[in-house]
Amino acid sequence: MKQGGVEETVLIPLYARAVETAKTDPALRDPRAVEMVEAIDYDYAKFDGLPSLGGAVMRTALFDHWTRAFLAEHPDGTVIEVGTGLNTRFERTDNGRAHWYDLDLPDIIELRRRFFHDTRRRTMISASVTDPAWPDQVDTGGPYLISAEAVLAFLSEESVRSVVQLVANRFPGALLAMDTSGTGIVAAQQQHDVLSKVDAVMNWACDDPSEVAGWRPGAEVLGSHTLTSLPPELYAALPAAYRAIVDELVPQQLMQVEQYRMSLIRLP
Ligand SMILES: C[S@@+](CC[C@H](N)C(=O)[O-])C[C@H]1O[C@@H](n2cnc3c(N)ncnc32)[C@H](O)[C@@H]1O
Repeated sequence: MKQGGVEETVLIPLYARAVETAKTDPALRDPRAVEMVEAIDYDYAKFDGLPSLGGAVMRTALFDHWTRAFLAEHPDGTVIEVGTGLNTRFERTDNGRAHWYDLDLPDIIELRRRFFHDTRRRTMISASVTDPAWPDQVDTGGPYLISAEAVLAFLSEESVRSVVQLVANRFPGALLAMDTSGTGIVAAQQQHDVLSKVDAVMNWACDDPSEVAGWRPGAEVLGSHTLTSLPPELYAALPAAYRAIVDELVPQQLMQVEQYRMSLIRLP
């Protein structure tokens, strides 16, 4: 894997899930992440104790929550993880019937193939999400959930716009789960606790996810959350330590946290 590129960022949420799994009261369990961290030689210790690891876990818990809700409503639906990295959402949420695609850049899919293999219901796609041809490799019917967790901020706004148009054209009616970082976060990324430790750069700042829905007439924001306004049932299920973190943020931290949003958008 290329270090120093955007691909290196995959190791941040991977490590966050591995660290979480070792806790006595974890928000999620991911034994595969523990195996992958052990197998991939990297200086993970530089991320130890950083608050964003907990943020990544809460974000993943929300994306898992949306995925479970989607599959409860559409048990034979198709989930497409774009910028999947070494994500293990399938392991946590699969219902035995869903169809699943994991898309990432070629280097990451090559790495991913060391740990995962394609099955009848699960397929890896090696492509940039900006490549207009990748949807041709999705050959299952809808409904579709397109999950873009911690990916789009690394693209330019122009690329994000083209991705939104591409998926709206090719997967009409799809749900798009995504996250956005506001201008303050993107401007201060050199001071960001984990991003300052890798070379990848966030290029797209978005202060209001309804702007994304506005790019495509008929698109609708179904839900938009910060880490301090998680869906009540998800917040209630978090370990007490996480609820305390969220409840006890000081005003300066709150300003940062409030600029980071996770949103579920229905495309027309
Ligand atoms: C921070 S990681 C997130 C990984 C995963 N979604 C997770 O939450 O564990 C960002 C991922 O986006 C991928 N990525 C960045 N640009 C991409 C592009 N143009 N097309 C596809 N994937 C991309 C990177 O390779 C990396 O795996």
